[in-house]
Amino acid sequence: MKDYHKILVFAFLTILFFIYTFSLYAMNADFSSIGGDSADRGKRIWQEKNCTGCHQIYGLGGFLGPDLTNTYSERGNAYIKAFLKSGTKTMPDFKLTSHEIEDLTEYLKSIDQSGIGRPSQLKINYDGTIAQPEK
Ligand code: HEC
Repeated sequence: MKDYHKILVFAFLTILFFIYTFSLYAMNADFSSIGGDSADRGKRIWQEKNCTGCHQIYGLGGFLGPDLTNTYSERGNAYIKAFLKSGTKTMPDFKLTSHEIEDLTEYLKSIDQSGIGRPSQLKINYDGTIAQPEK
């Protein structure tokens, strides 16, 4: 290959790279769900306060506290809010505002609707994917 052919290929690939990068960023700029509803904000608080350090979701996470995937349907809205408001001897009080408590509870509600948190009850399909059992 002649030298100027190499330069042409290089220039072509460089231009493609910039077009691709630009379009990716332009696409992500209007991701409307970021910052969206109460459950989205709750997820962000969940990450900021590192609840995962002690709690599991879908069986993944720290093991100091219980799995919270289905706490919403098992314990209820008021129970979760009371827990988040004051903590217990082993669960820290994060001094959350009532808005933060509302958002975290909405997040736990959306997690509850998405599946179950007992890995031992998951059925493994023949192709290695996982089937959620009926709740
Ligand atoms: C330092 C570890 C730790 C962190 C961090 C933590 N928790 Fe907990 N959490 C616990 C423990 C331990 C319990 C069980 C306490 C008890 O029963 O007295 C618990 C219990 C709970 C419960 C009640 C669950 C049930 O089934 O009774 C909820 C809801 C909860 N935590 C939510 C959260 C949220 C939301 C966060 C983040 C803002 C969080 N926790 C951060 C340790 C933690």
